[in-house]
Amino acid sequence: MTPSPLDQLPASIDELLATIAGFATLDELVDGEPFVTGKRSILSALQKSLGQLEPEDRKAAGATLQDARRRVEEALEARRSVLAQEARVAALEADRLDLGDVVVSAVRTPYSAGSPGIVAKTQCELEDVFVGMGFRVADGPEVETDWFNFEALNIPPAHPSRGMWDTFYVELGEPETVVLRTHTSPTQIHLMEEAVAAGTLPIHAVMPGRCFRRDTPDARHLAAFHQIEGLVVDRGITFADLAGVIDTFTRAYFGDDIQSRLRPAFFPFTEPSAEFEITCTICRGDGCRTCSQTGWIELGGCGMLDPAVLAAVGIDGDEWSGFAFGFGIDRCAQMRHQIADMRALIENDVRFLRQFS
Ligand code: FA5
Repeated sequence: MTPSPLDQLPASIDELLATIAGFATLDELVDGEPFVTGKRSILSALQKSLGQLEPEDRKAAGATLQDARRRVEEALEARRSVLAQEARVAALEADRLDLGDVVVSAVRTPYSAGSPGIVAKTQCELEDVFVGMGFRVADGPEVETDWFNFEALNIPPAHPSRGMWDTFYVELGEPETVVLRTHTSPTQIHLMEEAVAAGTLPIHAVMPGRCFRRDTPDARHLAAFHQIEGLVVDRGITFADLAGVIDTFTRAYFGDDIQSRLRPAFFPFTEPSAEFEITCTICRGDGCRTCSQTGWIELGGCGMLDPAVLAAVGIDGDEWSGFAFGFGIDRCAQMRHQIADMRALIENDVRFLRQFS
């Protein structure tokens, strides 16, 4: 019988399977692959030699060789899968952080850091201006009794002047009426009572903080907003001191090209009283939606301390006099940065907020 090139096949298959089992890494397998199943393998050489066979023997020999190739290729793929898994485990082990018992399972995208909001920044800037003028900074509660928010400020119960403030009532009547403060003016009372009790008059202070009113939000109003109160109690204080402080503040905060004016007004706790206004920075005085076509924006109220208020806290009005003011911090921010609609301050749109970060 004529010897067949396939006579050596069983031994060749055993040899190939042993070679495959001997690949220790994926790199070794990739390097060895051409010699096991590829062009340079015994299987390819045998394939070519089939041409020497008689045509009637060629078909059976081809099928045998095909079968042998399938076994070898299956063994190669199985080995590849085992080595790939071993490589993944080794890579994870190499990347492991040694944190004792802590298991690090995934990397999180870092949070982007926030920054102080425009109102908080404005409050700091206003404080800086007043500290530079010799005022100290104090604060007071956001929830007040009727006494502090109204009565001590010369606003008796049921008096029509209460209508100036749309109040959120927390508690009505007994034992006391409690409100969300409608303005920062009650801090005047706290500071004066403390100074009288401690014997530390005079007072030169500003008191920033949050206020609440049942106001419908619009281009110039919010229901929760901020004011900065100013209080001076000293000997020989006149309206000229008040006007000088307001003028100095306006120049320092808005610059020399912004016009300001004091208009006669009424507040129950100051006499005489005035409203402090500046040229609308949105329309530069021409009139627009923000300033209701007036060309002016009211920033706050001010005036000389009413003798009834001094009496309510036990300060001798013959010896001491003083003034107070209360400016809207949100309004100052709005005018300084030309924000046409104040509601943008609370809408939390990062595209708006980023302009000030
Ligand atoms: C007062 O609140 C007085 N307490 C001010 C005062 C203090 C007068 C000391 C005399 C002496 P008025 O209600 O006008 O006044 O408010 C003062 C400022 O707070 C306004 O000019 C405005 O800038 C701001 N403000 C008032 N209501 C709102 C609101 N709903 N939203 C935003 N800002 C407001």
